[in-house]
Amino acid sequence: MKAVSFINGEWIRPCNDGGSVYNPYTGEVIGERCDATPSDVEHALAATYAAKKDIANIPSHERAKILKKAAALLNVEKERFAKLISLELGKPLKNTLDEVSRSIETLELSGEEAKRLIGETLPGDPSERGTRAIAATFRVPVGVVAAITPFNAPLNLVCHKIGPAFAAGNSVIFKPASQTPFIAAELIKLLLQAGFPANAVNLIYGGREVVQQIVKDDRVNVISFTGGVVASKNICSLAGIKKVLLELGGNAATIVHEDADLARAAQMCARTGFSNSGQSCISVQRIYVHASIVSTFTELLKHEIAQLKIGDPLLPNTDIGCLVNETEAQRILDWIAEAVSQGATLLSGGKKYGATVEPTILLNPPKKSNVVCEEVFGPIVSILPYETIEEAIEATNDSSFGLQAGLFTNQMDLAYKVAHALEVGGVVINGTSNFRLDHWPYGGVKNSGIGREGPRYAVEDMTETKMIVYRLSE
Ligand code: SIN
Repeated sequence: MKAVSFINGEWIRPCNDGGSVYNPYTGEVIGERCDATPSDVEHALAATYAAKKDIANIPSHERAKILKKAAALLNVEKERFAKLISLELGKPLKNTLDEVSRSIETLELSGEEAKRLIGETLPGDPSERGTRAIAATFRVPVGVVAAITPFNAPLNLVCHKIGPAFAAGNSVIFKPASQTPFIAAELIKLLLQAGFPANAVNLIYGGREVVQQIVKDDRVNVISFTGGVVASKNICSLAGIKKVLLELGGNAATIVHEDADLARAAQMCARTGFSNSGQSCISVQRIYVHASIVSTFTELLKHEIAQLKIGDPLLPNTDIGCLVNETEAQRILDWIAEAVSQGATLLSGGKKYGATVEPTILLNPPKKSNVVCEEVFGPIVSILPYETIEEAIEATNDSSFGLQAGLFTNQMDLAYKVAHALEVGGVVINGTSNFRLDHWPYGGVKNSGIGREGPRYAVEDMTETKMIVYRLSE
């Protein structure tokens, strides 16, 4: 396989050598990636800019139809797409089948939003000067959306950008993660088959230089980025006057209170702390557990983890595959070792085989350790005992991040109090931080980002309010 950029309706060859693409589980080369040259990026920016009027002129019912057709085609291709993601990323087939189903829904939801680009009428007479005036607002496309996406959900997180951007009538320049180039190319082929105009989405591969060239360019109107904090700061420093939407990381906390259904909490923490080897921005990372139930909860959690099957991501029964590469697996091991050297107790896991890291539980790592205060993006959960709920709230909020949080309790008043006190974009009661439905608003506060994804919310950010005023004769 060879991944090459798709610009203005053509797959571009020759190109810069972007290196080999590996199956992270076996270490085998599965293909090559060609990175865009500066002139390819210029070509893509020019093509995306030139396309914006054409896309804006497609009636919204037509854009809706195309997005729904894309969803239907993806439904037919579900298994092939899921296997490709598992191959490139090492994410278990169970999870990638789920990701493809979610992507179908995201495209469908985007199609629905294309039909809801509504405005309002605003009488002028609340103002004395406006008695003979009336205004109407319209949602109009911003023009060009730059979509820069991560490896961990390389289909659905892309659909969350291209779907709403196209629904809103924009053209898109799309730079996927370097680790997962093939699924990006397959998505473009599918969108073309569904009826996307050839110049509606321009796909380019590359690293930091490519991103910098895109985000600096004044032909881009909105940057929609999902990724890390360091890269996002770089993007913001270069973007100039553009809207920048950031869906960044987290060190998500889930609180397990003394009255909670512990079996349910343990099962959910095991499933959502280790799925995709913890490579999700809302993966359960810090579990604040009431001191009176720490040992019961920990035993239940260990029991749940023992049921998880580690193995080849392409096998249907595998629960835990591998990380995106061995370098990441080694970093995870280094963070475990650091936490243990700082006083944490390793309760289970802690070993690696190639790019696979065992599901790992740490007890009581210090507040300043990487596993507590940074985003792990790996299969580690830390158990952090607390005495009072106020302590748990304070500890959860004592973070530079604030994406989502979970809380297990059977007390309604307590749930209400905690949910309102947590500084995050979303709180899940009687579930973990790692629960998202694709029509809900998704995004964070603090270093977890700016803006909300979910087609309805993204469409708002990818359109401008245009007001047309009618001044009536006296
Ligand atoms: C992410 O932000 O890592 C994706 C989470 C999800 O869509 O479930």
